[in-house]
This record gives sequence, C-alpha cells and structure tokens, in this order.
Amino acid sequence: MKLEGKVALVTGSSQGIGQAIAERLAQEGANIVIDYRSHAEGAEETLAKVEATGRKGLTVKADLGVISDIRQMIQSSIEHFGKLDILVNNAGIEKHGSFWEVTEADYDNVLNVNLKGVFFTTQAVVQHLIEAKQTGKIINISSVHEELPFPHFTSYCVSKGGVKMMMRNLAIELGPLGITINNVAPGAIETPINTNLLNDKEKLGALLKNIPLGRLGKPSDVASLVAFLASSDADYITGTTFFVDGGLLWNYQEQ
Ligand code: BGC
Repeated sequence: MKLEGKVALVTGSSQGIGQAIAERLAQEGANIVIDYRSHAEGAEETLAKVEATGRKGLTVKADLGVISDIRQMIQSSIEHFGKLDILVNNAGIEKHGSFWEVTEADYDNVLNVNLKGVFFTTQAVVQHLIEAKQTGKIINISSVHEELPFPHFTSYCVSKGGVKMMMRNLAIELGPLGITINNVAPGAIETPINTNLLNDKEKLGALLKNIPLGRLGKPSDVASLVAFLASSDADYITGTTFFVDGGLLWNYQEQ
C-alpha cells in the first residue's frame, strides 16, 4: 500500500472516473473525502466502496462553481480527518453546442466547474498545506482536449487548456513548497459523461477507429495512474501531463 496514513479529496467522486479514483486511493491506504454536487446516491455508493477497503470516507456536497462551497468543503475535510495530503481535481462537465449557439449560462456552467473550481479548490488546499507546513500532491483530471480540438465543445476545450497552463504555472510556484502538481488527461473512457456516445453505434464505431488500442478506456485505467502520481514514487514528477487515451491523441493516418 502506497498511501497509508494519507487523506485524499477527490472532487466529483459520486460516479465515473472520480469514483474509481476514490476506490483505488482507498485500496492504497488513504482515507477519502468524496465530493459530489447532486448525485447523493452515487456518493453513498462510493463511500461503501471506500469502506469496503477498510478505509474511512466522508461525503461532502459542494458546487465547485461557488467559492463559499469550496471553502466549506475544505474546512469540513480538515475538521473530519485533521488534514489533507492529496487533492484530485476530477469534477468536470461538458456541453455540446456550435460555437455560435453557446449561451452565457452554458459557458459559465462549464468554466465555473472545470476551471474556476479547480483554481480555487487548489488554492484552498495550498493555503491549508502552507499553514500546516506540509507538502502535498495535486492531480488534475484534464482531458486529451487540453491539446486536441473538439469541435462543438469549445467551452470544454477552453477550460481544459486553461487547466493545462494553470498546472504548468503552479508547478513552478508550488515546487519550493514541496507540492507537486500534474495533469492526467483521459481520452474516451466508459463513464456517464459519454452516455450519448456509448448509445450511438455509428459515432462509437468511428471513435474506436481512431483509438490504436481499439477500445474505450475504463475508469480503473485512469485511477491506477492517479494512485502512482499521488504516491511517494512520484515525488520528483511535477508540471507534466500524462495521457491515458489508448493512443488517441497522436493518431493520424493517410488512408
Ligand atoms: C470527453 C469525452 C470525449 C473524449 C474523447 C473527453 O474529455 O469528456 O466526451 O469522448 O474526451 O474525445
């Protein structure tokens, strides 16, 4: 077990990739704060998975687009477990729409959770680490779309590109404090965010043709990398993006 005695906060861990990360970090010995926005039953399911490993969990409801919710979430985590060592910024949403049709509300929803939420959750955790004179590890779940264009998902790409530059900047600012920060960038993973795609045989077939490994990823494919980056095995790694995409990003072929 690589994470014995550690406490990890995983945002958006009531389902999908976040749930798999919460479970995997618990298997490695960490106690887990399970953040969710609206899916309370999913958070309870995650809690049961965490507890089944013998570790402890705490569910916290927060809208990461709202700074007072973020502060409350961090405060409850520290009150409950006494500290935080690992932050996984996983919560994310996307909204399909042609650029010329995107509304202010849709734009704000995506950017508030995916970018502003990551910014201020990280800030609150860093403030805690500084106060506690403690080192820590921050892992952002980004996307292949921090690099790769995704037409009709421009606000999503803007948010993920922003998270890429935030991570690079913070690696420099936080390095002297002993805090590392890296991005994990999934490709197409079997999760609720992809429900439409999974139900559309034609779209799915076309996507699979673009994935050299010939399958969608599983949440556990992402979680295993996060467990490594959260552990002391990754102490010298900061400022980097790791792609978990079956080869999708760099696949170009002339027919
Ligand atoms: C998006 C998915 C998409 C995948 C591959 C992810 O970041 O959330 O909707 O299928 O990238 O394009």
